[in-house]
Amino acid sequence: VEPNAAWRDEVLRLAKERDAVILAHNYQLPEIQDIAHHTGDSLALSRIAAQSDAQTIIFCGVHFMAETAKILAPQKTVLIPDERAGCSLADSITGAQLREWKAEHPGAVVVSYVNTTAEVKAETDICCTSSNAVDVVRSIPADREVLFCPDQFLGAHVKRETGRENMHIWAGECHVHAGINGPELAERAAANPEADLFIHPECGCATSALYLSGEGIVPAEKVKILSTGDMITAARSTKATKVLVATEIGMLHQLRKAAPEIDFRAVNDRASCTYMKMITPAALLRCVRDGLDEVHVDLETAERAQGAVQRMIEIGK
Ligand code: 13P
Ligand code: SF4
Repeated sequence: VEPNAAWRDEVLRLAKERDAVILAHNYQLPEIQDIAHHTGDSLALSRIAAQSDAQTIIFCGVHFMAETAKILAPQKTVLIPDERAGCSLADSITGAQLREWKAEHPGAVVVSYVNTTAEVKAETDICCTSSNAVDVVRSIPADREVLFCPDQFLGAHVKRETGRENMHIWAGECHVHAGINGPELAERAAANPEADLFIHPECGCATSALYLSGEGIVPAEKVKILSTGDMITAARSTKATKVLVATEIGMLHQLRKAAPEIDFRAVNDRASCTYMKMITPAALLRCVRDGLDEVHVDLETAERAQGAVQRMIEIGK
């Protein structure tokens, strides 16, 4: 299937017939981002899924994102073009592991990143995304212990920003972001001294970025730790003519559209998420034509997870 005009017309016609809204995460293939009715970060897409009037949500992203949409809108049909699109970070903690961890810290408040399974969300007090994780942890009374899972790099970022001591962090990671490492960032920053650094907090290099600014190697105002959606906002307001981007490379497409005059370069151009890229033009056409793959979350799990996800979409900008 070629992502040409005929493909586009057919996908949009079939979507209309189904009363479907097509959502795409910023890491999707450029042609999928361009055909979607809405493109955005995890938080923005969850909010749109919760508010949409459409009967069907087609989620071009990974499985936990489509599951989150289903938890927020259980009466809607939620489809994902390929249900095998998983997430190594979501796989780094199970419901049983979280239950065990909670038993070791009775009374602690559990904050789970949205990159988790519905089963983990069902054991969670408040979910967060990379764009509101700091606000979510700040919303918890200072005397309560916090269990933060599953991403260790995002957890370290939140702990630094909030200065919170009573926060325990699970040792999970995303293989794509963990692979964008500190020495690589330092080398690229040294070779491009005029560039801003846009760093996703899941990256292995996030701590090194702060080291570079702390040591005055890169001016502090040039180092920005941002969710994918906040990168687009920052791209529109920066005065820099070059930006080094540390996140999954699908992000470059929206950044270049938002600020065509800026030279955006990946810190690591091999940082591609194979799960995100399973949503091909052919898979989207099949999805909208045949109504596959449908996402199901069992009712009891969905009900237990809903409060945590609802709190997530209410906190932060
Ligand atoms: P955000 O879009 O919330 O920044 O999430 C990044 C991510 O890794 C999703 O898989
Ligand atoms: Fe999961 Fe990482 Fe892929 Fe995001 S980039 S979907 S966190 S594996």
